[in-house]
Amino acid sequence: MSLPSQALESADAALGDGLDVLSAAIPTHVAIIMDGNGRWAARRGLPRIEGHRRGVDAVRRAVRSAAELGIRYLTVYGFSTENWSRPPSEVADLFGLLKRFIRNDLADLHARNVRVRVIGDRTGLSPDVLLLLDEAQDLTRRNGGLTLVVAFNYGGRQEIARAMRALARLVRAGQLDPDAIDVEAIGSALDTSDIPDPDLVIRTSGEMRTSNFLPWQTAYSEFVFLPDLWPDFDDRAFRSAIGQFMGRDRRYGGRGAKAV
Ligand code: IPE
Ligand code: IPE
Ligand code: MG
Repeated sequence: MSLPSQALESADAALGDGLDVLSAAIPTHVAIIMDGNGRWAARRGLPRIEGHRRGVDAVRRAVRSAAELGIRYLTVYGFSTENWSRPPSEVADLFGLLKRFIRNDLADLHARNVRVRVIGDRTGLSPDVLLLLDEAQDLTRRNGGLTLVVAFNYGGRQEIARAMRALARLVRAGQLDPDAIDVEAIGSALDTSDIPDPDLVIRTSGEMRTSNFLPWQTAYSEFVFLPDLWPDFDDRAFRSAIGQFMGRDRRYGGRGAKAV
C-alpha cells in the first residue's frame, strides 16, 4: 500500500500521543465511499464476492479506528440505488453480506456503545432486510458512542426527490407555506435530518467521483481520494486521510484561517 509520506507525517504529528490540543480539528463526521472490492478480488484471481467479504472486514476495522480517533459519525456507502444494475448474483451476494454483518456484529457493536443508523430508500428492500435494519437501529438507539450510518439502497438524488415529495404533501395539506421552504427545511426532510453534514468524504480505489453519495450534505465537505482498494483500507490509511483533512483550510466562501 502506498501512502503519501507528507500526509502520514501530518497525521502522525496530529494524532500522536499527547497532542490533545489538535484534537479539535478531528472531523466530527467522516463518510466513506468504499470502492475497489471487485478489483481487489480480480487482482488475486478470486471471485468478486471474496473482495466484498474482505470489504466487510475493512468496515469492522474502520469502525474501530473511527471510535479510537474520537470521530462521532461514520457513514459507509454500502449499496447505491445504481448498484441494482449489477448482475443479480452480485446483488444477492451484497444483500447476503449485509444480513450476515448485522447478524454477526450487532451484539458487538451494541456492546461497544455504537449507535446504528440506516439511510436510503426502504422501498425495494425485502421484509427480512428491513427487519434486520430496524432491529439494529432499535437495539442501539440510545447508545452514546460512535454513530455508524449505513447508506444502503441509497441514492442522493432519489433522497432529495423523496424529501421534495414529503414537503409537497405538507404544502398540499396546508401545513407548510412554500415560502418557508429554505435550506434548513429541505435538510430536515432528508434521511440525514438528525446527522451533521460530513466534514470529510474518503473514497478509495482511485476513482474521483461521488457516485450519487450525499450530494446535498457534502456541499462543503472536504474530499480525500485514496489509491488503496477498499479491502486494504486500514487504520494507517484512515489516519492518512484524517491527516490530509487536518491540513485543509475550510473557507466556506470566506477568507479562511490562512488568509493574508
Ligand atoms: C465497492 O466495490 C462495493 C460496492 C460498490 C458495493 P466494487 O464492487 O465497486 O469494486 P470495483 O469498483 O468493481 O473494483
Ligand atoms: C459507489 O461505488 C457505490 C458504493 C460504494 C456502494 P460504485 O463502484 O458503484 O461506483 P461507480 O459505478 O464506479 O461510480
Ligand atoms: Mg466500484
